[in-house]
Amino acid sequence: MTSKYLVKGGRVIDPANNADEILDILIEGNIVAAIGRDLAGKEVTAGAEIIDASGKLVTPGLVDMHVHLRDPGRTDEETIESGLRAAARGGFTSIACMSNTDPVIDSAPVVEYIKRQAADVGFGNIFPIGSITSGLEGERLSEMGELVNVGAVAFSDDGKCVMNSQLMRRALEYTKIWDKAVISHAEDGFLARGGQMHEGYYSTTLGLKGIPAAAEEVIVARDIILAGLTGGRLHIAHLSTAGSLDLVKRAKEQGIRVTCEVTPHHLTLTDENLQGYNTNFKVNPPLRTAEDVAALRQGLRDGVIDAIASDHAPHARHEKEVEFDFAPFGLIGLETTLALILTEIVDRDVIGLSEAIGKMSVGPAEILGIAKGRLGIGDDADIVIIDSNVQHEVDPSKFESKSINTPYTGWRLKGLVTDVFSAGKPVIKGKVFVDGSVEGSRVLDPWKENHGYS
Ligand code: DOR
Ligand code: ZN
Repeated sequence: MTSKYLVKGGRVIDPANNADEILDILIEGNIVAAIGRDLAGKEVTAGAEIIDASGKLVTPGLVDMHVHLRDPGRTDEETIESGLRAAARGGFTSIACMSNTDPVIDSAPVVEYIKRQAADVGFGNIFPIGSITSGLEGERLSEMGELVNVGAVAFSDDGKCVMNSQLMRRALEYTKIWDKAVISHAEDGFLARGGQMHEGYYSTTLGLKGIPAAAEEVIVARDIILAGLTGGRLHIAHLSTAGSLDLVKRAKEQGIRVTCEVTPHHLTLTDENLQGYNTNFKVNPPLRTAEDVAALRQGLRDGVIDAIASDHAPHARHEKEVEFDFAPFGLIGLETTLALILTEIVDRDVIGLSEAIGKMSVGPAEILGIAKGRLGIGDDADIVIIDSNVQHEVDPSKFESKSINTPYTGWRLKGLVTDVFSAGKPVIKGKVFVDGSVEGSRVLDPWKENHGYS
């Protein structure tokens, strides 16, 4: 017998279909079978288990197009399973994982490994992003055709910039064959070399070497020019400066095929936050100025920004707890992104709820060319139920992620994911994972506990 669930009486927000109203959704097998007002009691819903969503938001399973899983390579920091669990807890049923694993996602077996592991875990979908250059070495293109054949959805050397303009040109040309996006980590390695934080007033007062806004902007400009030259599809990852945004805005006006994403941290934090030398604020691109944050918020309003993505970048605690200059760049975001956006962006009227959900569902899904992030009849039943009134305090010890490098510890945020369906299967039900683990019950790595890392 196929399983049937009736998600009843929730405020359904489905930006792809312009829906924002109280509706019932019938899940049958893996798909959305019906959607409408008061489906309860109708013949189609006979035998369905009722999930009461009244007073809550019901959205498509969210899509995070920029996630670093450390599997293969650094499974002490994140595994495919812990990453998928963290994603589900944060409302994401589809994540695209970046290629800077060890080995790099530059060959078919690595893509196949990730997909197989994800299927075994079963908590959601992983869409691997292949590397642009073999081994992220920036010397020659990866086997892109082979990677597409086994399921790579886009290409990126994220974490590193492709400094060779000729290679970037070739990547943009070659990917046109499959209409895949080339995702640019826009950072001039020479301008940024040795930099620890944004170059400006605070880098001077803190005595840390700066990374100028220009390091990002010269590459954004170069890649836009190359996208114009080739007709290839360019996506700018973690765009962080007012100047970059302006370049993307003007390129879009000229009809160049460019999209961009911003992270929650570049929308909510500034370089001023570095004052305590807390390495959990050390991220690449660096936290910028208050003016940049204001410009990015305006970019959301204007629609220049297409997606919000976490850039979830787990790092081991012992590697972050070192002098600032020696700590790796990156912070985790899967379990805080939705609540941060609801609290700091939607509640502060930067953009509306539907727009915000769109930037975390259909927006990124369209860039990746995946049939996700929408709730029409016949679509995959990836569905999230959110209690948007519940306030909670960010406590990394309760994270599903294996890492705890968040700058948001102690922040009080609104919005808690209570239920998650992936392809019609319940993953989280009433805040409890279907495998029985409840919120905050994560068992820490015994080594970490023994060494005081709780
Ligand atoms: O802060 C970052 N961390 N930025 C990147 O581009 C890469 C990432 C990582 O992999 O840790
Ligand atoms: Zn990244």
